[in-house]
Amino acid sequence: MLALTHASLATVDQLFRYKKQQFTLELFPGYTPDQWGVKAHNRPWIVEAGKFLVGQKIIEVGGAYSLLPKYLHDEYGCEAWIGDDFGMKEGDKLWSRWGNPHHLPKKYPQVKYIFENFGSYSEKFPDSYFDCIFSVSTLEHIAKNKRIDVFKDMNRCLRPGGKQLHTIDVSTNLDYILGCLNNKDTEQKLSEIESWIDVIKESGVSVNTSIPNTLSLLDRKILVESPDVVYRFYPPNNCPKAYNPNASLLLVIENISDPILEKTTLF
Ligand SMILES: C[S@@+](CC[C@H](N)C(=O)[O-])C[C@H]1O[C@@H](n2cnc3c(N)ncnc32)[C@H](O)[C@@H]1O
Repeated sequence: MLALTHASLATVDQLFRYKKQQFTLELFPGYTPDQWGVKAHNRPWIVEAGKFLVGQKIIEVGGAYSLLPKYLHDEYGCEAWIGDDFGMKEGDKLWSRWGNPHHLPKKYPQVKYIFENFGSYSEKFPDSYFDCIFSVSTLEHIAKNKRIDVFKDMNRCLRPGGKQLHTIDVSTNLDYILGCLNNKDTEQKLSEIESWIDVIKESGVSVNTSIPNTLSLLDRKILVESPDVVYRFYPPNNCPKAYNPNASLLLVIENISDPILEKTTLF
């Protein structure tokens, strides 16, 4: 049985804690250890929530150039995969702008790269195989009409006892949030948070946890993308641009085979 067992918004307090622990990865495009943005929170959160063990099979969905899977191989002895077609099928060059993705398997033989996306039920992603399927700032880039299939596909590949960890960027735009709260009768019925929970439920996951209130996106303790990351790494790099920082929704889905454990949460 699949259950959503944790849903929260990333906080500044958590980021401070991860910074104090000095979590760092090897350098890769878009990553520098001096950042204080959403991903500086999300990657150590994945490591903490994953409680990884030797031999576990893990995959980053939309891992792109990230060396977090390599870190999980090197530090924890996990079998590390990345599933990401880098936008190649649809000819979207945005996701391969940091260099030819096909050079990655030779450069990082510790990681198994599958140049395919989740959502098309590819045989290259085996059924009931992974102990942990995770994503960092990826799912919000997937078209709304494809999201249910992406979750169903990830659910298919999760083994009994395994878990999914997802960090999803969500808008903190004031007009949007007030619109969601005030205009329940208009087409803007669901907030982004509520929409994600709906998609997850429709993919066959039951909800065993409380869901963050949309209004809490305006709490100043909630972490949003940092100005330096937007300035330096959002395209076009190192340029002024509109600052509409996203918050980060943290979700844990567990494949609970024992009904007695159904109420267990990770935190
Ligand atoms: C913002 S990047 C992710 C960054 C990366 N997770 C990191 O931490 O550096 C989004 C990635 O998601 C990938 N992507 C989009 N849809 C996908 C899908 N259905 N399955 C797997 N990857 C997908 C894109 O190709 C792109 O590389």
